[in-house]
Amino acid sequence: MKKSRGAVLKETKPGPERVGKVLREIGSRLQTAGVDRPQLESELILSQALSIPAAQLYLEPERILENSIRAQIESWTQERLTRKPLAYIIGKAWFREIELEINPAVLIPRPETELLVEQALRIIQSETAVKTILDLATGSGAIILSLARELEKSNPDLQFFASDISGRALSLARKNAQRLRLGDRIQFRAGDWFQPFPGQKFHLIVCNPPYISEEELPGLMPEVSRYEPKLALNGGKQGLELIQKVLAEAPDHLDRPGRLVLEIGMGQAEKLPEIKTSLKLQKLVKDFAGIDRIAIFRL
Ligand SMILES: C[S@@+](CC[C@H](N)C(=O)[O-])C[C@H]1O[C@@H](n2cnc3c(N)ncnc32)[C@H](O)[C@@H]1O
Repeated sequence: MKKSRGAVLKETKPGPERVGKVLREIGSRLQTAGVDRPQLESELILSQALSIPAAQLYLEPERILENSIRAQIESWTQERLTRKPLAYIIGKAWFREIELEINPAVLIPRPETELLVEQALRIIQSETAVKTILDLATGSGAIILSLARELEKSNPDLQFFASDISGRALSLARKNAQRLRLGDRIQFRAGDWFQPFPGQKFHLIVCNPPYISEEELPGLMPEVSRYEPKLALNGGKQGLELIQKVLAEAPDHLDRPGRLVLEIGMGQAEKLPEIKTSLKLQKLVKDFAGIDRIAIFRL
């Protein structure tokens, strides 16, 4: 049967695609793939591709997507359907007030870690003797860069240090510092825990160490178990090995008032009293889920 001209056009050239429809369609594909918070991720994919704030998507649901933008959205969606985290796909993440470049050599900074920064800020603001701050195991630099940015105006004389054993993580942290124009505010050193700081003491140490137990690792969501660096996650048999190491070595690197702000995993707060250290546990802070997440120690 001979096809009409209109029918031929319909088959070969799909109509323009609009923001509202694509937003819903991608949300539903991500949901089917088991992605957590699919609508939010769909918003992020579209807003990043269009370089507009997510809220604007809802103000312009009829906006037509140009072919190149539609292709970018599809390519990111395809990658995300493999469960690769969006931060690794688009190469960025947001943490408190800063945007960070992210790659698979570093852990994607978590909202819980924003609480660690909040606690560190409280200490710095209430203890005027705090002048030197070390971020041990800095990864992308999220913690130290947030502190440096948020204290830039109020405490310009603070000295910031950061270290990581991963050379790739450290070079990304340095790059992030430069992008945020904080490159000359932070001294970055490579090495195993306190090894890059022989005999050096700090008033405040902040640390989000790897704290997942070897047993738990394979059971985590694919975004984490398949894609995030094991070096950033694996806390040994019980998940506590590196926490123990930091607690054992930190006292030699603290100067009064001497505080250590440490992120810990679910169920680890109860185990802290069994860990050998001369530091005193001063306070535990719960995260949004009511889990003891931040442990503050003092000399
Ligand atoms: C949980 S991630 C924290 C990253 C970043 N501070 C954050 O909160 O997003 C742990 C970091 O510990 C680093 N790390 C692992 N073993 C280490 C070691 N022996 N010495 C120093 N850093 C280490 C990893 O490279 C990783 O960047």
